[in-house]
Amino acid sequence: MTDRLTILRPDDWHLHLRDGEMLKAVLPETARHFARAIIMPNLVPPVVTAADAADYRDRIMWAKPKNSDFKPLMTLYLTEDTQVRDLRAAAEIGLITAVKLYPAGATTNSQSGVRDFSKVTRVLENMAQIGLPLCVHGEVTDNDIDIFDREAVFIDRVLDPIRRDIPGLRVVMEHITTSDGADYVREGGDDIAATITTHHLVINRNHILAGGIKPHYYCLPVAKREEHRVALRKAATSGDPSYFLGTDSAPHTDAAKLQPCGCAGCFTATNTLSILAHVFEEEDALDRLEGFTSRHGPAFYRLPVNEDTITLEKGEPVEYPAQIETGDGPVTLFDPGFPLHWHVRV
Ligand code: DOR
Ligand code: ZN
Repeated sequence: MTDRLTILRPDDWHLHLRDGEMLKAVLPETARHFARAIIMPNLVPPVVTAADAADYRDRIMWAKPKNSDFKPLMTLYLTEDTQVRDLRAAAEIGLITAVKLYPAGATTNSQSGVRDFSKVTRVLENMAQIGLPLCVHGEVTDNDIDIFDREAVFIDRVLDPIRRDIPGLRVVMEHITTSDGADYVREGGDDIAATITTHHLVINRNHILAGGIKPHYYCLPVAKREEHRVALRKAATSGDPSYFLGTDSAPHTDAAKLQPCGCAGCFTATNTLSILAHVFEEEDALDRLEGFTSRHGPAFYRLPVNEDTITLEKGEPVEYPAQIETGDGPVTLFDPGFPLHWHVRV
């Protein structure tokens, strides 16, 4: 039985760091284990221009623990007003690694997102030309589409038509939650990949809704039926390089979560790697963990893998706090619902 595993240092290909006091509190939780992360731009106001991205990157570098060489990989928030010249300049100097597409109204701070997809065609064509990946929040927002169907409908009505119209556009379908998403990406060729979160490998919709409502398990896209969780586990542990880790660790204060209309997001930065080791061990796939956390993402983003390593060791239950304190108030950590035994040694 394996109880010790050394892997290349992981990266997180989808992360919310927020700003101000929250940024200061949550950044060390990621920087402790991860070398790089794709930083989501859905601040208030959003990160829409190269200048915004440069300023945000500076604030992250300021907030970073002094002994850390964590590298934020910045993104721009795509709007119907995004300027091709600004975006190309930001990509050319390496300021941005990707662009994020939020359908307007799909999730937290997505009001400035795209309503009319024809208005971003020219930007997407330019991205295809320079190979700049588009990270997609893949849900339609129509009120008449059931929230549990919104990912599958997005693939048919929005994503597939865009990819047909703009060949060569490189797409990361973020935080897939369905077998439809996993299948689409598996069969989609080299220009598409998907991130999978830690929490979607652990919870299904019963965890949120059965036996009382659990706001800390509510995120978007919302967790689906058990058969989808099983499909995601299969995808993540398959060794297929189309799938890699994007935690979507999305901190909100308890005050913001525990509301009649509470925020979406699971905060998983602190215990993600212990949970993933547990899941991969359950799936008898510990030998594929490194691919998922540390190799497939850099391959898609055409970046080198990290040079250093971390070691996972199985032992006594891992102790982690129920909440972390921030200057904005406490943030509850994702509770996988089972004890964790894999310790991360850095
Ligand atoms: O659960 C989520 N939280 N999903 C998202 O897409 C956004 C994120 C956030 O920013 O809180
Ligand atoms: Zn997200």
